[in-house]
Amino acid sequence: MARLMNNSLFGLLFMLVLVSHGFCEIFDVSVEEYVKMKEFLASVNKTPVKTITTKNGDVFDCVDIYKQPSLDHPLLRDHVVQLEPPSYPPMKKLRRPSSYITVMTDNDGEEDACPFGTVPMTRVHMEDLLKFGSVENYKSKYGRSGYNALGQTEKHQYAVKETDGGPFYGTQVTMNVWNPVIDTSHHQLFSLAQLWVSNQQGNDTDTVEVGWHVYPAFHRGSTTTRLFVFFTGNSYGPGSCYNSRCGFVQVHNKITPGMTLPKVSKYGGTQENITISAYKNDTSGDWWVGYEDSNGYAPVGYWPKKLFKNLDKEANRIVWGGETDSYVSSGTTYAPMGSGHFASEGYRKAAYMSNMKIKDSSGKFVDAPSNLDSQTPMPNCYKLGDNSADVATVGQHFYFGGPGGTCS
Ligand SMILES: *[C@@H]1O[C@H](CO)[C@@H](O)[C@H](O)[C@H]1NC(C)=O
Ligand SMILES: *[C@@H]1O[C@H](CO)[C@@H](O)[C@H](O)[C@H]1NC(C)=O
Ligand SMILES: *[C@@H]1O[C@H](CO)[C@@H](O)[C@H](O)[C@H]1NC(C)=O
Repeated sequence: MARLMNNSLFGLLFMLVLVSHGFCEIFDVSVEEYVKMKEFLASVNKTPVKTITTKNGDVFDCVDIYKQPSLDHPLLRDHVVQLEPPSYPPMKKLRRPSSYITVMTDNDGEEDACPFGTVPMTRVHMEDLLKFGSVENYKSKYGRSGYNALGQTEKHQYAVKETDGGPFYGTQVTMNVWNPVIDTSHHQLFSLAQLWVSNQQGNDTDTVEVGWHVYPAFHRGSTTTRLFVFFTGNSYGPGSCYNSRCGFVQVHNKITPGMTLPKVSKYGGTQENITISAYKNDTSGDWWVGYEDSNGYAPVGYWPKKLFKNLDKEANRIVWGGETDSYVSSGTTYAPMGSGHFASEGYRKAAYMSNMKIKDSSGKFVDAPSNLDSQTPMPNCYKLGDNSADVATVGQHFYFGGPGGTCS
């Protein structure tokens, strides 16, 4: 819906009122900017070979693997898409994805996948751009600020463990999946569980990050738990980016960042796990993302080495755990992390990181060290359990999380 506010040709203002997910939002943009947005959408949303709408209403366009938007990145002009991931010890047999791993289902509940040679891409909508007021603002804030389009000051909270030094060439971790409730009326933005792999040299930080998150503002109001990836090659500056649209090269035809995970754990009941990994191709410097569950392993895609200042060589910090984010305003509270229960509640009740492994200079994945550093700046909200080397069963592991709240 568009209503003209005045008559001068280019000073013209549209007032766009979008009603979605029960929210009514009003946006003011000039006609000039609106035209720019239309052009941007046409360039970033590639012509699909096929479109898949999932049960929960997500739309994935199956796009030619060589025409995916990440390859429009200025640093990737001459990039040759790598289809073979480096070997992944312990080498998992690539199995035909089963219904658990196949989370993209069409409206009839049938399993679906993008045809050979194409990859699933989430669509960018006009509504996404309008929130940012301009294409430039969208492009520069899409990374670190995600969808905090209004630019309020954000406060991130953590409960994480880390190891520093290295050199490290990757990590793998198994975590249980939860669906923490995000209270947007108290300015909560997201809650996540993830791995971070970074190279920090003075003020320069490169990272690759993989995990699950609940981030309604990023997913058009959706409160499902989704796989996500993130990278920065410039200390979280412009160009840092979530998912497969601006750097991450998608290669798998079914498993993709942005997809809803099919199963979440029940408090006191079944614990649903995913195993994720981020690891370097030793020769090329590209960083691959692996996704694995009880049915097998799938290489999802990778970040080409050219996106990084230092991480293409090695990592010197690996971090695992939870994070929440709210913007600071009157009445701000912080989201539940993990299961929303404190780490001390233990198995079936709290979130965990388990089977934590690190790819070291030998090229092998070895158990993470037991002397990890802990960070819990807000222990009233979120806590960490001790790490335990119960290696025989679930490897190096720890519990984390808590209810959030005012954290005072
Ligand atoms: C790693 O990267 C190199 C250089 O781009 C490439 O030749 C190789 O096929 C890649 N994969 C493996 C398994 O090393
Ligand atoms: C790092 O950042 C600090 C604070 O902005 C600045 O004073 C310092 O010069 C920077 N160091 C380098 C090596 O760029
Ligand atoms: C998830 O991992 C835990 C710990 O290894 C295990 O006890 C549980 O059975 C796993 N859940 C499923 C659904 O396989």
